[in-house]
Amino acid sequence: MVVFKVARVETTPIDGQKPGTSGLRKKVKVFVQPNYLENFVQSTFNALTPEKIRGATLVVSGDGRYYSKDAIQIIIKMSAANGVRRIWVGQNGLLSTPAVSAVIRERVGIDGSRASGGFILTASHNPGGPHEDFGIKYNMENGGPAPEGITDKIYENTKTIKEYFNAENLPDVDISTVGVTSFQGPEGQFDVEVFDSANDYLKLMKSIFDFDSIRKLLSSSKFTFCYDALHGVAGAYAKRIFVEELDAQESSLLNCTPKEDFGGGHPDPNLTYAKELVARMGLGKSNPQDEPPEFGAAADGDADRNMILGKRFFVTPSDSVAIIAANAVEAIPYFSAGLKGVARSMPTSAALDVVAKHLNLKFFEVPTGWKFFGNLMDAGLCSVCGEESFGTGSDHIREKDGIWAVLAWLSILAHKNKENLGGEKLVTVEDIVRQHWTTYGRHYYTRYDYENVDAGAAKELMACLVELQSSLSEVNEIVKGMRSDVSKVVHADEFEYKDPIDGSVSKHQGIRYLFEDGSRLIFRLSGTGSEGATIRLYIEQYEKDPSKINRDSQEALAPLVEVALKLSKMQEFTGRTAPTVIT
Ligand code: G6P
Ligand code: ZN
Repeated sequence: MVVFKVARVETTPIDGQKPGTSGLRKKVKVFVQPNYLENFVQSTFNALTPEKIRGATLVVSGDGRYYSKDAIQIIIKMSAANGVRRIWVGQNGLLSTPAVSAVIRERVGIDGSRASGGFILTASHNPGGPHEDFGIKYNMENGGPAPEGITDKIYENTKTIKEYFNAENLPDVDISTVGVTSFQGPEGQFDVEVFDSANDYLKLMKSIFDFDSIRKLLSSSKFTFCYDALHGVAGAYAKRIFVEELDAQESSLLNCTPKEDFGGGHPDPNLTYAKELVARMGLGKSNPQDEPPEFGAAADGDADRNMILGKRFFVTPSDSVAIIAANAVEAIPYFSAGLKGVARSMPTSAALDVVAKHLNLKFFEVPTGWKFFGNLMDAGLCSVCGEESFGTGSDHIREKDGIWAVLAWLSILAHKNKENLGGEKLVTVEDIVRQHWTTYGRHYYTRYDYENVDAGAAKELMACLVELQSSLSEVNEIVKGMRSDVSKVVHADEFEYKDPIDGSVSKHQGIRYLFEDGSRLIFRLSGTGSEGATIRLYIEQYEKDPSKINRDSQEALAPLVEVALKLSKMQEFTGRTAPTVIT
């Protein structure tokens, strides 16, 4: 057995290591600077205190993007030197973000050990490769992202760090083969266990969903299916779950081989970036050669996001979570005893609110960022939650879960078609959504993203909107002067959230303009970019009248969009005449 020595390495603070909405994300060229990753990892260990690290089992894996393999070896060596007892690595360093959460919560090691946290190596939906993004975040023993208290401490530590610890003579560990490699250090044995990336996650999914009924649907000749992993880590799960377990055709998988650079693409499951799937589903500019599948879905790089599509039909993420909540008890065994409550992020449409009201469920509106749901779930207050940013999930783990969302939709389809698979006409994704709108009303919804805007200009635009809020009469004058078909602004504020569990307050979570008819305009700065600023504009309008629920959404929202651009002086501040992405 190799005996390793612990070296104390001198270092100095490096600027800009403040974790964003979801960990530290920077260009690879920033991460490869000497001591950059080391400083952040040691600052994390120091923030967690020695009791949580010494003798602990930690997970280290991610979406497999460029630089992951080097980063894993660095973290293994530093963990050994900091007294960690064992590191768990998914084969080839691959674990989706939801799988890391599941592994921390559920996995029992060969010697009965359990993990107390883990590093997830991903920049989520940002592109990968030598010139693109890398990222790292720490998840706690509940399987969820470290709370702000910890990430603030990590950041403080990065500003004063003087040294880190490294097991310098520890050889690189082979992470391509399942098995345990053991070493001997000054404090005893240190193990690296490489395990199958999909097993634990699959086991959890089987305990939640009725795989037999989904298999019946997927193997029915009437139902066609397509899944696009956008070359992200979801590919490591898709074949195993959809093809091997659920009998989908292998040809239904697109881009399901994980690649370090995501094939040069932008691994974000939306109508702009999931081009191949969008075309196949009949939503592209030209008609596909073959009849589009009945159901299509895509995931982002680390497989926590999802996009759900029907044949020639887009399901907004805000509708998706509302529809899952409305059908969960009947269609998904895990929820058969009822939902504890539901939650959405502030900019997500109010479709979920209407379902919660109908079904008399506890309801929460939290700031953007999955971590806010975790506290509610730990307190047993929330079963299903979702965000407009293509995140949907439940209290089975403490991250959003892209494959879970697909299985939830397949369960609903299987349930609605239970009697129907041999019959005439399939109940489609579009039927389910339109039926939902008929029952609950429709929330027309769109998001405009202005990416890589000058950070100063973005700040000024936001400051101007806050200033404008002080005079609603001035706001209404502008609105009325433009469009008589837009209702009155009755309230405007900066969203602020007091966590009902720990009492912590999060301020400046987005600027809201709320209209008399339930419409909303929301402006927010993205917390996940790695360069410049991204301004997000969220536009929403509620329509209860069944005769008006089938309009084209961009058309229905055009008046509100016009008002939003004028109120924010978007072009004046940013120089942009059009958004980078519309979803
Ligand atoms: C990540 C988080 C989500 C959040 C999203 C917002 O994906 O996990 O919970 O909704 O970022 O991103 P933004 O760029 O709008 O800050
Ligand atoms: Zn992600």
